[in-house]
Amino acid sequence: MPRRHRLVRSLLATTSLSPPILERLGGIDGVRRLSTLFYDRVFADRDEPWFLGIFASSTKDEAIDNQFRYLVQAFGGPGLYGEKKGKYVRLVGRHANYKIGAAAAGRWMKHMEGAMDDHEGLKGAENDVARGYLRDYFRYTAYYIVVASEYMRDDQLSGGTQLDSGRIW
Ligand code: HEM
Repeated sequence: MPRRHRLVRSLLATTSLSPPILERLGGIDGVRRLSTLFYDRVFADRDEPWFLGIFASSTKDEAIDNQFRYLVQAFGGPGLYGEKKGKYVRLVGRHANYKIGAAAAGRWMKHMEGAMDDHEGLKGAENDVARGYLRDYFRYTAYYIVVASEYMRDDQLSGGTQLDSGRIW
C-alpha cells in the first residue's frame, strides 16, 4: 500500500473507534492535557540536550497550543489548527526548519508514549486498542516527517509557525 494511504488509514483508525479517541481523551481539554503531558516531558529532557535543542526557539505554552489544536483537528474535532494557522497544515513543511532525523523521531515517540501512559483517559484494558492506534499514528507520522523532509525542495520550506494564508501548493 502506498505510504500516504497507510498514513490516512492509521489516522482514520483514531477517529473510527467507538467511542472515538477524541472522546476517550476527554474532548478538547483532554487533548490539551495530552499535549501538556508531552511537552512537560520534552522541556524537562536534560538527558539528551541535542533533543531539547531542537525546541530552543519555541516556548512550551506556544508548542502545546499548536500541537493540541492540530491533534483535535486530526482526530475529527473542530478545526482549531486551521483557525490559528490557515487552511494548509503541511506538517512536513512546518518541521523543515528543524534538524529532525530518526533519533529525534525516536526521542519524540518516547515522550509521547510517556504522555499516553500518564493520560487518565487512556488507562485500563478497555483502552488497549485505542492506545495501539494512537501509538501507530504517532510513530508513523514522526518517521514520515523524517523521511519526507529528505525529499523537500527549498521552495517548499514553511514560514515556520506563522499563518500561511497565501501558500497554495
Ligand atoms: C519526529 C519528531 C518531531 C520533532 C523533533 C518535532 C519538533 C517540533 C518542533 C521543534 C516544533 C516547533 C514547536 C512550536 O510549535 O513552537 C514542532 C511543531 C509542531 N509539531 Fe512536531 N516534531 C516531531 C514530530 C511531530 C509529530 C509526529 C506530530 C504530529 C503527530 C507533530 C506535530 C507538530 C505540530 C502540529 C506543530 C506545530 C507546527 C506549527 O504550527 O508551526 N510533530 N515540532
